Amino acid sequence: MDGRVNGWRRECRALCGQQCHFLECSEGVGVKAELWTRTNAQGSREPLSVTGGAGFVGSHLTDKLMMDGHEVTVVDNFFTGRKRNVEHWIGHENFELINHDVVEPLYIEVDQIYHLASPASPPNYMYNPIKTLKTNTIGTLNMLGLAKRVGARLLLASTSEVYGDPEVHPQSEDYWGHVNPIGPRACYDEGKRVAETMCYAYMKQEGVEVRVARIFNTFGPRMHMNDGRVVSNFILQALQGEPLTVYGSGSQTRAFQYVSDLVNGLVALMNSNVSSPVNLVPLEEGLNKAIHYFRKELEYQANNQYIPKPKPARIKKGRTRHN
Ligand SMILES: NC(=O)c1ccc[n+]([C@@H]2O[C@H](COP(=O)([O-])OP(=O)(O)OC[C@H]3O[C@@H](n4cnc5c(N)ncnc54)[C@H](O)[C@@H]3O)[C@@H](O)[C@H]2O)c1
Repeated sequence: MDGRVNGWRRECRALCGQQCHFLECSEGVGVKAELWTRTNAQGSREPLSVTGGAGFVGSHLTDKLMMDGHEVTVVDNFFTGRKRNVEHWIGHENFELINHDVVEPLYIEVDQIYHLASPASPPNYMYNPIKTLKTNTIGTLNMLGLAKRVGARLLLASTSEVYGDPEVHPQSEDYWGHVNPIGPRACYDEGKRVAETMCYAYMKQEGVEVRVARIFNTFGPRMHMNDGRVVSNFILQALQGEPLTVYGSGSQTRAFQYVSDLVNGLVALMNSNVSSPVNLVPLEEGLNKAIHYFRKELEYQANNQYIPKPKPARIKKGRTRHN
């Protein structure tokens, strides 16, 4: 079976890398016992930390690391994350959940730090721009300080937004970007740019091992429905039986990535020798093509769950932007 009953087709792959039968629900409800027995107790049991581990990407990363048999400490202040995203691990001997704001220093013993703590969607990071800046600057400094103290390797979850409104397409890692330092998105774009700068300063000056992943649009279970970006917008409109809204001609491109592919990329990068920034990005698709993909998927869901089918796309004039 392909694993799509009530959830997303590839949820099984997201968690255990196999076409298993038990993870049929997008939230993984009722699978705790199965997950626990499938945890690889013979794994390397490296102590790792995931900041932002109760969020959308962080919780999937936590699932993978736990399934691989590591000891995982999730550090989160639950600004946008939810305890229920990781509650299936609570009580497991390899798992710890710390309610902590990375803007404050953290003292734990770990070998690797996946530093994801930061709001990611425009409504969330624009809600409190000063806090977004503090999280990405002071928070990253604190995590780099921790990495230095305990000799850990740190992977920063950076973003395609470091390229701003890019003047070249597609962007390769050596493109420096085109960012407005005083615009409404600057708290996030510039915050991430400084976070990258900090990583390389700690690498050069203090010998801290760093990895920098520039992440593009990611979707999948546990993403925020009010994320404000195109995937969740399409899904919400489709579920409500409304036409899908496209700003501009629909010929603009987006890079969409399923969350399990991103998580595999993050783990591969962390364990690689590559210390320069890496774009974690699938092939770009035109929005018109993406609509057909989502429509097909949503119609499948509609046929199975008796929700209204999406109507054809409605094209709206407007400015286009990568995310
Ligand atoms: N999802 C995407 O498409 C995307 C794209 C580019 C980059 N990223 C990056 O990936 C990371 C994770 O994104 P996501 O989509 O899972 O977002 P998310 O909002 O679901 O998760 C972020 C997590 O960080 C936590 N957090 C925020 N501020 C914190 C703080 N000060 N201290 C401790 N925890 C804090 C939140 O509570 C949440 O659990 C972010 O760093 C984001 O910038 C994501």
